[in-house]
Amino acid sequence: MNWLRHRKWIAHLWGWAGAVSIRTKIFGIVLGSTLLLSLGFTVQVRLALANFLQGEARAQGTSIARDVAARSADLILINDLYSLHQLLNEIQTNYANVRYVFVVDPQGQVLAHTFGNTGFPLSLLNINQVSPGEFQSTKVLQTDEGLVWDVAVPIFDGKAGTVRVGISDAQIHKTLQMLTSQLLYTVVLVLVGSLLAATSLTWILTRPILNLVEATGKIAQGDFSPRVARWANDEIGDLAVAFNQMADELSRTDELRREREQLRRQLLEGVISAQEDERRRISRELHDGTSQSLTSLIVGLRMLETESDLEKVSQQAHTLREVVRQTLEEIHGLAVQLRPSILDDIGLVAALEHYAHEYQNRFQIGIDFQTLGLDAKQRLPAPVETSIYRIVQEALTNAAKYAQAKHISILLKQSQGMVSTIIEDDGGGFDAAHILRTGLKESKLGLYGMQERASLLGGQVVIESTPGHGTTIYVRIPLERATNAKNTRHAGR
Ligand SMILES: Nc1ncnc2c1ncn2[C@@H]1O[C@H](COP(=O)(O)OP(=O)(O)OP(=O)(O)O)[C@@H](O)[C@H]1O
Ligand SMILES: [Mg+2]
Repeated sequence: MNWLRHRKWIAHLWGWAGAVSIRTKIFGIVLGSTLLLSLGFTVQVRLALANFLQGEARAQGTSIARDVAARSADLILINDLYSLHQLLNEIQTNYANVRYVFVVDPQGQVLAHTFGNTGFPLSLLNINQVSPGEFQSTKVLQTDEGLVWDVAVPIFDGKAGTVRVGISDAQIHKTLQMLTSQLLYTVVLVLVGSLLAATSLTWILTRPILNLVEATGKIAQGDFSPRVARWANDEIGDLAVAFNQMADELSRTDELRREREQLRRQLLEGVISAQEDERRRISRELHDGTSQSLTSLIVGLRMLETESDLEKVSQQAHTLREVVRQTLEEIHGLAVQLRPSILDDIGLVAALEHYAHEYQNRFQIGIDFQTLGLDAKQRLPAPVETSIYRIVQEALTNAAKYAQAKHISILLKQSQGMVSTIIEDDGGGFDAAHILRTGLKESKLGLYGMQERASLLGGQVVIESTPGHGTTIYVRIPLERATNAKNTRHAGR
């Protein structure tokens, strides 16, 4: 229960201390500890000095009383009270802290004293007595004027009387007062010094931190330009360097992100305009090819209606059949170009085989298509099939357009949860690094599109080509991620 209460208090205290700024904390710590240290020191010194001075006062009282006892013995024996009086007055004058001196005879009669006209206070008489066999006796008296050490010393072993000396603490008091005020004065000076030190310390310590806080705030709002100066070679300096590195990295990443965004936009625009071109082409082809064929079919059929010669009818029917076959082929060609629906029907391996076959016929370029780790009927996640199909299509189109290749080899491989494709042509090659850097600016979207397709599935495309040495394109796509995205067959098939 107690422990719980303590914890509550500590949490409360921490809540309060944690809420103030670092500047206030440093100020508080420096000033608080300086004040505590200085005041503790003052109290300690004052106590030690008071003890020492009090011991000194007792010793001085005893030595004065012994001196008076020795010097007054003869005067008492010859009963020279006047000289005794003189002696006592001389002692009081010589020692500032001697409050009084008096001598009493063995019967307790006061022979001489230093109280002058005010009269001897009788209450003093029996307060302090030396017991037989003792050399002195000291008593501490509480008086209106402060503490008094009353020292009694016997004269001639008490046969000639007793000397009593009262040592006042007024002098000690004064000395202590003086010392304390000097120490307090020093404390004030030390406090002013530490105030200045705390101000410069907080400035030195918090300035770079405040700079960091300000710069971090700007970065949080998306402005990556601020950098902070390294003030010193300490931990905060290291933090500043690390912060600058982080800001550099963030600004580089941001630039890269912007660039990629720009590229994506261009790609999208390219895709849209490519779609428009495609539509125009199909519409033209439908108009110029299919419509023409269908028109000639109508014309032919109309002629058939009126034809009576059977031989001509049969000839005409043959021609019309040929027109229909051609139209059918054209429509089929258009459908295949529009969407590789055979991917859905027969899978990637068969679709690529089919495409390669058609490509060979069209461009007279030999294709060697091999698979490893997957058979003809095996299906991969739909996004992977589409992407690989489109990448191979683009690579082969480029090879036909630019490479003047004689032979192309395609390898499709599945292993360790990864599908890899290698497309290699023996054509003229090109400066791949340069084209990848500048291609997009010139609206060359093919190679970039390959990379985008692969990266959307967590994979990558590496293009190796040097002018005069053919081109090899390596595609790697992980299956796991694509399987997760299986149901989201993405657009652009
Ligand atoms: N296999 C290849 N052999 C030789 N040069 C190639 C090959 N593939 C690409 N290139 C060169 O790289 C350039 C960029 O190709 P990319 O496919 O990105 O654009 P494109 O084919 O010109 O246009 P798009 O594909 O957008 O219609 C091509 O213009 C060509 O100069
Ligand atoms: Mg291309």
